[in-house]
Amino acid sequence: MTHKPQPTSGSQDGIESALHEDRVFPPPASADLGLGKWHVGSMAEYEAEHRRSVEDQDGYWGEIAKRLRWMKPFDSVLSGGFPEPRWFEGGQLNACDNCVDRFVDEGHGDEVAIIWEGEPVGDGGPEIRRVTYKELQEQTARLGNALKKLGATKGDVITIYMGMVPELAIAMLACARIGCPHSVIFGGFSSQAIADRVQDASSKIVITCDGGWRRGKVVPLKENVDNAIEMMGDTSPVEHVLCFGRCHNKIAWGELDRCWNEAMEAASADCPCEPMGSEDMLFLLYTSGSTGKPKGIVHTTAGYLLYAAHTGRLTFNLEPDQNQVYWCTADCGWITGHSYIVYGILPNRVPTLMYEGAPNAPAEDRFWDIVERHKVTQFYTAPTAIRAFMKWGDEHPKKHDLSSLKILGTVGEPINPAAWMWYRELIGGNRCPIVDTYWQTETGGHVITPLPGATDQHPGSCTRPAFGVDAAVVQRDGTECEADKGGLMVIRKPWPGMLRGVFGDRQRFIDTYFSTVYEGGDVDGTPYYTAGDGARRDTHGNFWIMGRIDDVINVSGHRMGTMEVESALVAHDAVVEAAVVGVPHEIKGTGIAAFVTLASGFEAGDDLKKQLGAHVADQIGAIARPDQVRFAEALPKTRSGKIMRRLLRDIAAGVEGTQDTSTLEDFNVLAKLRETEE
Ligand code: WTA
Repeated sequence: MTHKPQPTSGSQDGIESALHEDRVFPPPASADLGLGKWHVGSMAEYEAEHRRSVEDQDGYWGEIAKRLRWMKPFDSVLSGGFPEPRWFEGGQLNACDNCVDRFVDEGHGDEVAIIWEGEPVGDGGPEIRRVTYKELQEQTARLGNALKKLGATKGDVITIYMGMVPELAIAMLACARIGCPHSVIFGGFSSQAIADRVQDASSKIVITCDGGWRRGKVVPLKENVDNAIEMMGDTSPVEHVLCFGRCHNKIAWGELDRCWNEAMEAASADCPCEPMGSEDMLFLLYTSGSTGKPKGIVHTTAGYLLYAAHTGRLTFNLEPDQNQVYWCTADCGWITGHSYIVYGILPNRVPTLMYEGAPNAPAEDRFWDIVERHKVTQFYTAPTAIRAFMKWGDEHPKKHDLSSLKILGTVGEPINPAAWMWYRELIGGNRCPIVDTYWQTETGGHVITPLPGATDQHPGSCTRPAFGVDAAVVQRDGTECEADKGGLMVIRKPWPGMLRGVFGDRQRFIDTYFSTVYEGGDVDGTPYYTAGDGARRDTHGNFWIMGRIDDVINVSGHRMGTMEVESALVAHDAVVEAAVVGVPHEIKGTGIAAFVTLASGFEAGDDLKKQLGAHVADQIGAIARPDQVRFAEALPKTRSGKIMRRLLRDIAAGVEGTQDTSTLEDFNVLAKLRETEE
């Protein structure tokens, strides 16, 4: 290997854990929960199975892979190793077939696959749709043919920018059906973000909605796509925009536009699932990294699907014919929606619930209203949402019968023990186990998580590695850290759900994930997968994630690259230089603080602050809007010219979001002081 380990800013020596938490909650007996049988029912079973899964990868995954329906059996299980392993070579299958068609063939066509609830609540209650496997088969087939008619051929990346309607899942599955990788863009992203992603993926077709409901308002999705295409001008690769009518808001209709309903009616319902090679790309999903440009994470058909479905089954104890109703509150625009609304749930033949809108529309009890109405059994959400629920008050969940719930999950960021306890007591009635699932867009599925019937839960800990995952906390030279010592979170062996690349940028893929730690500390040795998180393992072997160690911050459980926000800021005429850091935030977990130096002729003040906030929202999306904007004479730098981010973090954390000053601040004085200290 030619690449050398690169020094990075956050050294593991600096990782200190402040969290001391020793409450333990053993798993309940499945009978006490009224939940059928646990798939993994004891720690002894977990330990034995985990050992086998990492020591005999071929044996373990070869057996688990039989749960999928193959069109052609694979010749080998794992070939090669990091950074580019190949799984199930020689095999052929189709992801849509495994989510939909196989269940129709097996006689379950009339069972419900997707339960959907719209946001608006009329006199007769909210709009509810139940989509069966048979209907899903027909819809994905028609849409598959409609896309082919628009010129889609196997391998073309199709962009999807829609609200949370069943048609979003249908669009994803239809792409999979005809062998076109999809690139779903979260509906909260701006036109600029759409343009960047569509261009990077050279997408000829964009599927969108006229609008989407969010907190009683219509998000103008189609208009955002129109603007993105206009921004790209002559360089736009887009040939067709297929638009599903949801809100019936006014939209412009141009030459590229095609109507979903008309296209579906004109298309035949006969569209066999395309046989796909195991390693063929299933989708591409853009996520933030430590540069200004988001990267397209590539996932493949067999390994990803198998891993998502297997972890989904075990983490949530999914089982058909048990009256389970599973609900994940994420949006399909994020990896959580890909893996644990669609690809990891449908193959388990348990209905997956999709909700269109906001948790506080029309009131703060909306989620609990949904849980009660649909008798939800497994509920999966983010710590940031839980903190918002806590703030809104106990009366909201208390108004509802939540006794259907059996298993609760969290994802996206470390959960603070106070929020964990609230979730357990108020939502779980002190009876439901909580699975704190640690994973990433890149890992495809859960890599560290409790299993509800086996693992002791520790509030704030994601506990134990999933099957097949050889996770460890190590120092930069690859040696494992002692118990309770912070280090780098790594995975030492390939697992089927791992990313296979960064779209169009192999070097970035290797530099980002496989160039920090090597087995035995030798650059010529096997690289480990580095996750970009700091972690520690306690004396019982449980993992505690301590947060990102790169220039990525976690805002409301969503990844945001500080460089991305910085490049958006410097794109504004008023800004010469910008530095963005994370700052503790009561609800979001981490908020965004931006320090900017202004071009001459621009005046620091509240007006400009608002303008800059709006500008960032416009460039990236509302989730990236800084919570604090602070103007500085100059940014504090070390003698070698590096921005002193740690100093800025301290400054930002010492300030209430609303009381930050509008005047110019001279941080260089502080910086000079700090330099003399160090
Ligand atoms: C963080 C979301 C602590 C972590 C599935 C990771 C977590 C990043 C947890 C990935 C958890 C996710 N405990 N931290 N249970 N889950 N993270 O790609 O920093 O949007 O690297 O995937 O979220 O975010 P991503």
